[in-house]
Amino acid sequence: EARLNMSASDLKAQHFNYWIEAPAKINLTLDIKGKRPDGYHELETMMHQITLVDRIGFRRGGQGIRLNTDSPDIPADEQNLAYKAARLLFEKFNLQEGIQIFIEKNIPVGAGLAGGSTDAAAVLTGINRLFDLGLEEKQLLELGGGLGSDVPFCLLGGTALGRGRGEILTPIKNGPKLTIVLVKPDFQISTSEVYSDFRMDRVKKFPDNEAFISAWQSCDIISVSRQLNNVLESVSIQWHPRIADIKEQLCELGALNALMSGSGPSVFGIFTRYEIARQAWAHIKQQYPQTYLVSTYKKGEKYD
Ligand code: C5P
Repeated sequence: EARLNMSASDLKAQHFNYWIEAPAKINLTLDIKGKRPDGYHELETMMHQITLVDRIGFRRGGQGIRLNTDSPDIPADEQNLAYKAARLLFEKFNLQEGIQIFIEKNIPVGAGLAGGSTDAAAVLTGINRLFDLGLEEKQLLELGGGLGSDVPFCLLGGTALGRGRGEILTPIKNGPKLTIVLVKPDFQISTSEVYSDFRMDRVKKFPDNEAFISAWQSCDIISVSRQLNNVLESVSIQWHPRIADIKEQLCELGALNALMSGSGPSVFGIFTRYEIARQAWAHIKQQYPQTYLVSTYKKGEKYD
């Protein structure tokens, strides 16, 4: 009888008895230093985790890898990067007992927020713990890098400067806690298409990551805001001028500055006052339902 009174989400919480949060990332700066022989671009980018999180549930048992999700926007099979992450560990360690994985999807898909990468990172972390694989951070980072350029950062978390494909990471400590309004317009952008259309000579101004880091470590939000810069805007805004409109709208509503994250199309604005941010969020949400009021993600901290 007790079971009948349980909501679907209670049943889910009971069935998947181990949960991990998988936060989204935004790029506070994104610079491209050149194109590499392997086709990837040499990056220098400040990445930052925010309090928009997927929740990944686990349960040991059954046969093989079983993946479920509450989202119609992502595949629940081998195509999912989280599934690939599980398979990587299952093959590497020849695991016999099965695993059931549930992705509670809150991060918009195809948004420039590393939603797929963060789920994959959480699956690596979760299986490592649940099956006592004994993988250390360094090994996890290396395995993650093979799955996708953003996976290592999602494993490391916090705020970090990424070089190489984005997988060579330097943690940047002691920064400010940001108040952010994040807007995901109702279209998606293909990361690989943005990168392949990128031309250095179309960039008006490149990021100064040294200046950014110095502003960051002084917790100088005004200076941090001035240093926001993403060279991929030169491609995405050309395709979708609405990205520039949203940036402008955020600034009109009180943001110190606004920027596109990753290859887009998500745009975020940085605010000094929570109440102003909340009003901007409420306003923009009427036009763009996928608008979020978020802040800097801190492990273990409670938030709404
Ligand atoms: O590594 P990941 O599969 O996430 O990258 C997706 C695509 O983004 C790559 O296929 C590539 O076209 C582009 N990319 C790039 N340079 C990077 C990261 C990604 O060109 N540093």
